[in-house]
Amino acid sequence: MIREEMKTITSDELRKMYTQFFRQRDHQEISSASLLPENDPSVLFTTAGMHPLVPYLLGEKHPLGTRLVNYQKCIRTGDIDEVGDTTHLTFFEMLGNWSLGDYFKKESITMSFTFLTEILHIPMNQLAVTIFEGDDIVPKDVESKQAWISLGLNENQIFYYGRKENWWGPAGQTGPCGSDTEIFFDTGIEKCHESCGPACNCGKYIEIWNNVFLEYNKNEDGSYTKLKQKNVDTGMGLERVLAVLNQKNSVYDTDVLKPIIDKIESLTGFQYDDKTNRDYRIIADHIRAATFILGDKKGIVPSNSEQGYIVRRLIRRTIRLMKKYNISQDFFFEITELIIGMNKEIYPELMENRTFIQSQLEKEYIIFNKTIDMGLKKAEKYISNVLGADILSGEIAFKLFDTYGFPVEFTQELANEKGIRVDMNEFDEKFKEHQEKSRLGAEVKFKGGLADHSDRTTKLHTATHLLNGALRTVLGPEIFQKGSNITADRLRFDFSFGRKLTNEELEQVNFLVNKAISENIPVVCEEMSVSKAKEQGAIGVFDSKYQEKVKVYSVKGFSKEICGGPHVNNTSELKHFIILKEESSSAGVRRIKATIKD
Ligand code: SER
Repeated sequence: MIREEMKTITSDELRKMYTQFFRQRDHQEISSASLLPENDPSVLFTTAGMHPLVPYLLGEKHPLGTRLVNYQKCIRTGDIDEVGDTTHLTFFEMLGNWSLGDYFKKESITMSFTFLTEILHIPMNQLAVTIFEGDDIVPKDVESKQAWISLGLNENQIFYYGRKENWWGPAGQTGPCGSDTEIFFDTGIEKCHESCGPACNCGKYIEIWNNVFLEYNKNEDGSYTKLKQKNVDTGMGLERVLAVLNQKNSVYDTDVLKPIIDKIESLTGFQYDDKTNRDYRIIADHIRAATFILGDKKGIVPSNSEQGYIVRRLIRRTIRLMKKYNISQDFFFEITELIIGMNKEIYPELMENRTFIQSQLEKEYIIFNKTIDMGLKKAEKYISNVLGADILSGEIAFKLFDTYGFPVEFTQELANEKGIRVDMNEFDEKFKEHQEKSRLGAEVKFKGGLADHSDRTTKLHTATHLLNGALRTVLGPEIFQKGSNITADRLRFDFSFGRKLTNEELEQVNFLVNKAISENIPVVCEEMSVSKAKEQGAIGVFDSKYQEKVKVYSVKGFSKEICGGPHVNNTSELKHFIILKEESSSAGVRRIKATIKD
C-alpha cells in the first residue's frame, strides 16, 4: 500500500507533474502526435512516443534541442487478447522523455528514480527493476546496474533478463533499438513461486516505466549498426501509474476509464461484477480506441484494410458484446459523448471530429447488422446440413466468423437449440492460427520504408512534397494530405478530393513535379514556430502547439511544408518523376502512387 491517506492523483495532475518535472530538467515539451504515423510506413499506428522522433534518433537535429518530454496517445493491437485483464489496453497514453544524443543511462535512471520516489512518493522498497543480461551481440548492461545500486536499490530488487524481456525495438522492421531497464511496482503480494520475478505475470509486479537506451539501428538484413548518437527513450503507461498510485485494482478503475464502465453499467442495467467485468472492460477499451482513431486529424474510416480494418474490428467486437447485453445503437452516441467530453481539453481534435466519429459508428452498426443477417442465414443452412449428427465442426464455425463476421456464440446458440454442439476446440485452433497471422500483419505492415532513411526513400519523400504542391496548384489549395507511405519502390500519397482526376490533370501534375526537378531548386530547411510557419503559408500537420518550434522544408515556387525530414538538398537529385496510378482510397479521398527513375 502506498501513499496512505494521501489524496487521489488524477490523470490531469499526473500529466502535469510529469511534464513539469522534466521541464525543470531542461526538457522541452512537445505535442502528442497523430495516432497515424506520418511518413513512417513501418507501423500502422503510433505505438509509442518515440515514433514521431525517429528522424531525430537517427541524427537529424530537433528544432527544440536534445531533451524532450510529452504525453502521447498510442494504439497497440498486439495485446488485444489481454485487453480486459487488469493492465492491458488498446488505446493508452504514454508519458515519455527523450535524450537525443544528450544524457545517457545514469542520468536517465536517476531522473526516473527521483520522479517515482520524490514526486510520486512510491517507496523505494516497492520498486523492482530489470536489466539486459547481454548476449553475443551486445554485452551485459553493467552501467544500469551500478546506477540502480548507487541510488540505494538492493540486489534482490534487480533482475537480469535476455533479449525477450530487456531489448526494445525497432518498432517496425528497421530503425532505432537498444537494451532497456524496465521499472516495476512490486505490489507486495507473495511470490507465486521461488523464481517469481518481474517477468512473471502472476500480478505481483506491474510494469510502469521503460527506459530504453537506443544506441543501435536494426537494418533490413537483420544486422545492427551503432547509431550516430546514444539516445534515451522512456515510456511510462499513464493508466497503469494512475492505478498504482491510487490503489486501484485495474487500469479500468482509473479516472480515464471508470466513468465509461459506470455508463455501460447504467445503460445495460447489469452490475459491473465478476460476470460482466471483462466484457465491460473490452467495450470501454474498444469504444475509447475507436473514438480516438476516428477522431484523429487524419480521419480514418472503417474499411477492410490497414488502419481502417483495425478500427472496424474494434467496432464489430463492441457490437457483438452490445448484442449480448441487448444494448441498442444509441449506446454509441452516449458513450462517445462521454469520452469526447472527458478528453476534450487534452485532445481537442475529438470535439472537432465529433460528428464524424458518431456518424461512422452509426454507419458501421448498420453495415454490421446486415452482415450478421447474412451470417445468420448461412449458419442456419450449415446447421440444417448436420441435423441428426450431434456436432458442428469448428472449421465451419470459424468460417462463419471469419467470412461473415458471425459471432461463434451466436452459432453455438443456434446449434444448441437443435441439440447440436459446436466443436470449440477446433474453433479455438483455427482462431489462434488466424490471430497469429493478423497480429503479424497488423503490427508490422510494410518492409523497409522511410524509417531506413536510404537515399531512395529520402528522394521519394521530397518527391511527395513536390507532388503535394503540384496537386494544390492543379486542383486547388483546399485539397489536403490524408496519408503518406513510402517504400524503396514507390511513394503513395492520399489526399482529400471528391472525384477521379482527369488525364489532363494528371499530366499537368506530372509536368509540374518534373519542372521543379529540372529547375535545380535547393531544398531549404528552416526552423520556426508553428504560428510563423502558418503565417508563411506552410502546409502540413499542425499537431504542435502554436509557439512550438518546427522544421519547415521549402522548394521555392513549389512547396513549403512543416515536416521532420529528411530530404534531398536539391530537386535535381530526383532526376525524373513518374505517376504510376491514380485511384480511390476511400470516400472523398484519392490515392496516387508514383516513383522516380534514376
Ligand atoms: N519505446 C519504449 C516503449 O514503447 C519506451 O517508450 O516501451
